[in-house]
Amino acid sequence: MMNETYILGIETSCDETAVAIIKNGRETISNVVASQIESHKRFGGVVPEIASRHHVEQITLVLEEAFKEAGLSWDDIDAIAVTEGPGLVGALLIGVNAAKALAFAKNKPLVGVHHIAGHIYANRLEEEFQFPLLALIVSGGHTELVLMRDHGQYEVIGETRDDAAGEAYDKVARMLSLPYPGGPHIDRLAAKGEENIEFPRAWLEEGSFDFSFSGLKSAVINKIHNAKQKGEPLKEEDIAASFQASVIDVLVTKTVKAAQQYHVKQVIVAGGVAANKGLRQELEAKFSETDIPLLIPPLRLCTDNAAMIAAAGTINFEQGKRSGLALNANPSLLLR
Ligand code: KG4
Ligand code: ZN
Repeated sequence: MMNETYILGIETSCDETAVAIIKNGRETISNVVASQIESHKRFGGVVPEIASRHHVEQITLVLEEAFKEAGLSWDDIDAIAVTEGPGLVGALLIGVNAAKALAFAKNKPLVGVHHIAGHIYANRLEEEFQFPLLALIVSGGHTELVLMRDHGQYEVIGETRDDAAGEAYDKVARMLSLPYPGGPHIDRLAAKGEENIEFPRAWLEEGSFDFSFSGLKSAVINKIHNAKQKGEPLKEEDIAASFQASVIDVLVTKTVKAAQQYHVKQVIVAGGVAANKGLRQELEAKFSETDIPLLIPPLRLCTDNAAMIAAAGTINFEQGKRSGLALNANPSLLLR
């Protein structure tokens, strides 16, 4: 019989304190997330010092809850996986130090995990990977196309040169006085609006899989400013719909092109913006015209959680990758 592997995952890179236990890399035994969104809302974004303080307060409670939910004890755990970067350094440090202390006290191997590898592996909790695989990662901090030829191997074939997709959503939302995080509000408004404003699409050089959203963001902000100055009416639903159409057009077109060029067997989507209804619909429509299977995780696995970190950490663990107690938080950790 196959040996069972239980990995404990810890995630504190931004504004969720999360601990999860995963069996054999694919089965969620427990998955506890304490969100701080309410505390950051009134500042219109994540305040790093507040995030760190919340993580300190929450981490042991969330850890206890994860064990309780799983009905397991430390004896069952084979290794501890923790997000080592990228993210807010003070926030990452809470998770990394908790993981190091626990690894030492409980005598367990420690495995550092890249946050984006986690977002990718959230999909494996739903379905087994088929390689080569293309991952579209769209979150508040990242917009990337990653090619994977095997487990634990990541080749970034395209990335944003300025703002991340989620960042553009949040900034446009802020201009429209919508609460943080703005993505879901723009998504909701866009569904009610008309795509009647011509906003730019940054295709960049021929053949490039890179992205750029700062020009689009500025165009939207200028449009709102000008309309306000001239006293012209502007429907925020239409702004949202037209902005979202530009983002989705570029994301989907480049993802389809890359999937075909690299002859991938599967396309997966990851990160908070993967929750976007318009994006999901357009990806499904365009990939249904190809013979490439598309996998989009359920909403609860799109946003930050520790199940995804334990899932990615299982691969590192199986491949013999260990971090040791010298592990440090690395806010600009590269995916490779
Ligand atoms: O992956 P995530 O939870 O955190 C990061 O690692 O960044 O992503 C958060 C981002 C925020 O920018 C938020 O506005 C965006 O995901 N987001 C959305 C939607 N839901 C969340 N953006 C567009 N449409 C949505 N429905
Ligand atoms: Zn994330």
